[in-house]
Amino acid sequence: MTETLAEAVSRRRTFAIIAHPDAGKTTLTEKLLLFGGAIQLAGEVKAKKDRIQTRSDWMKIERERGISVVTSVMTFEYEGNVFNILDTPGHEDFADDTYRTLTAVDAAVMVIDAAKGIEPRTLKLFEVCRMRDIPIITFINKMDRESRDPFEILDEVEEKLALDTAPVTWPVGRSKTFCGSFDLANSTFRGNDTQIEPLSVNGPQAIADRLPENERAAFIDELELAREACRPFDRASFLEGHMTPVFFGSALRNYGVRDLINALGAYAPPPRDQVADTRTVHAAEDKMTAFVFKIQANMDPNHRDRIAFARICSGKLERGMKARLARTGKQMGLTAPQFFFASQRQLADTAYAGDVVGIPNHGTLRIGDTLTEGEALVFQGVPNFSPEILRRVRLEDAMKAKKLKEALQQMAEEGVVQLFSPEDGSPAIVGVVGALQLDVLKERLQQEYGLPVSFEMSRFSVCRWISADNPLDLDKFITTKRGDICRDLDGDPVFLAQDSFSLRYEAERAPAIKMVAIKEYH
Ligand code: G4P
Repeated sequence: MTETLAEAVSRRRTFAIIAHPDAGKTTLTEKLLLFGGAIQLAGEVKAKKDRIQTRSDWMKIERERGISVVTSVMTFEYEGNVFNILDTPGHEDFADDTYRTLTAVDAAVMVIDAAKGIEPRTLKLFEVCRMRDIPIITFINKMDRESRDPFEILDEVEEKLALDTAPVTWPVGRSKTFCGSFDLANSTFRGNDTQIEPLSVNGPQAIADRLPENERAAFIDELELAREACRPFDRASFLEGHMTPVFFGSALRNYGVRDLINALGAYAPPPRDQVADTRTVHAAEDKMTAFVFKIQANMDPNHRDRIAFARICSGKLERGMKARLARTGKQMGLTAPQFFFASQRQLADTAYAGDVVGIPNHGTLRIGDTLTEGEALVFQGVPNFSPEILRRVRLEDAMKAKKLKEALQQMAEEGVVQLFSPEDGSPAIVGVVGALQLDVLKERLQQEYGLPVSFEMSRFSVCRWISADNPLDLDKFITTKRGDICRDLDGDPVFLAQDSFSLRYEAERAPAIKMVAIKEYH
């Protein structure tokens, strides 16, 4: 029987894993892919990272500093559902990339190190998810090591994140004696994840008997308390972003991962509705719509192509179809859309709402672009953050100024840096959210364009997008402040200030001008 569009869409689960570096995101991703049969051996995700790093020079930065710079997507199937994991860089200097990726997911898995609890990056990423009402499943990892008391961790989540917790499983044993999880609602026990079916058990005592004698009584008491004191899982509250189901496990030792993947299938929402400028688009609509949330160059160093990662918002994308690019109103052929698996990519003949496909192109697509089957609509909400660091690029060989301009334009289209062209015609200014992005820019200009550059301080340190209800007010402001005004990649005006004090001062003197730190692509 052929599947209807609505059926195909309803089995999609598109999510990201959010975590503080070292909590176990890579290990967990690997194990999830393993369940989906997407990889043969655990360790391949890391091994693949290493391979790419040696192939592509600019990624040296990532290797040297042991951080993940790029985001990518991995697709796999498990028990009837299609899962798309959107990976995000762990380092906060690439936060803007991560935030954009979070606009393309329907749910998130929050990984917490059981010994450390909520760490700063976890908190920040959580806040972004909350802004977008993204439902969150919590995985308390590393239960095989010394860890905090489970109640204490749950309290911390409730207090620091103002999020109700509902433990679905409870850990059996701690560190060396950790041997699995007990399902509080169904009274079943699952040991190692290689065990397909969980054991039905005759009450907590049977589970306690798996523990050393001196831990048994405490376990029984704890379980009773967990059942009495903790909230039961409420899916509606979870979908609204008020409650998180909590799982305990060890990604490294294969505990709790199967419960997590089952929960993603059962609780996580299918593709959500997406807000466009003219209307709300529903995932199961017939016509294809999509938006680009990331551009990545150098996926294949032999081809100077760029891959635009597009989240399909509605309908079905078929290879060879024509799509309308909202920014230009022009048609483009989707001749080679691709799916990504752990170790390979494959042409996508058909992809549905919720899926993420890579679209190879030579600069046609930009971050924030909307693709449709003809309808003139633009998806809202892919953010552009005002940079924290502004620099002028100094070229060692002045003859190559034109080449530099082109290269910077391309880097800006990819979202590596933001590019600001001063109204007074002085050399362009680049802006980044974190200093490591400058290192990436320098390395790539050198490797890919043969342009050795250095960076000079600029007299500005703060930047705001400006607008006004009355265009005359805006024109007047731009004329009087010409030396402090730049245009971004889209030609939108930006006001640069020396510091936040002078920004406040200017903002007070020009009340008709709206100054914003986050611009949504349009
Ligand atoms: P990240 O992507 O969130 O940064 O974390 P990653 O998975 O790389 O894990 C960070 C470290 O924690 C790794 O050790 C990993 O093996 C370990 N780890 C992950 N999950 C668990 C777990 O459930 N239990 C225990 N005991 N350790 C876990 P590493 O020594 O830094 O790296 P590696 O040499 O093992 O690759």
